[in-house]
Amino acid sequence: MKVRTYETEGEVPAELCVQAEELREQAWPGLAGPHDPALRPVPMLLVTPEGVVTAALEILTKDIVHRGRTYRASGLSAVATDEAHRGRGHGRRLVAAARTEIAERGADLGLFTCDRELRGFYEGAGWQVLEGTVLVGGTPQEPFPSDREGFDKVTVASFFTDRAKRDAEAFRGCRIELYPGVIDRLW
Ligand SMILES: CC(C)(COP(=O)(O)OP(=O)(O)OC[C@H]1O[C@@H](n2cnc3c(N)ncnc32)[C@H](O)[C@@H]1OP(=O)(O)O)[C@@H](O)C(=O)NCCC(=O)NCCS
Repeated sequence: MKVRTYETEGEVPAELCVQAEELREQAWPGLAGPHDPALRPVPMLLVTPEGVVTAALEILTKDIVHRGRTYRASGLSAVATDEAHRGRGHGRRLVAAARTEIAERGADLGLFTCDRELRGFYEGAGWQVLEGTVLVGGTPQEPFPSDREGFDKVTVASFFTDRAKRDAEAFRGCRIELYPGVIDRLW
């Protein structure tokens, strides 16, 4: 089983692309659409030697401003394991590989939200939960915060560069204006 990483969505071979889309459709029927190209989506797939996609995700990236300082932030989006292959560590392997990939690409930090029940899933792959931190998605005009009614989300992060590590405390127990836009409102 290999992790495959692509520079753009267009680089994913058609036979793997179809499977990744099916896998997303399985997880979010009718809701999975293409990502905003402005967020420079980097697809990552876990693929068997026979060419079966067992898990998929995309890394999205943008600059954020927090407490007056600019950071390059990347998040995980559309993380999914094929139902037939769940519970075998494939998801964990892929989100751990994505953490390494984000660091190697030079982002200051990784930052995203997940449902509270998945906290252990991400922590087991090297990510940490920022207690009391809310990510504000959407746009400044139409904010889409992770603590809106009906959501039960936690914010997950990893700090990679020295400056991000130094400033890590400033990301706890606060609201972070992510503002990824109107397509991937809360990546
Ligand atoms: C979440 C998901 C990607 C996990 O994939 P997976 O390949 O089955 O996960 P793994 O086998 O790598 O699990 C690793 C650990 O996370 C835990 N875990 C996995 N899914 C979980 C879930 N839904 N709730 C709670 N814990 C979960 C596992 O129990 C395992 O813990 P363990 O090592 O203590 O046994 C998969 O269930 C999925 O595709 N769900 C639908 C889409 C989704 O919710 N994506 C997340 C969006 S943020």
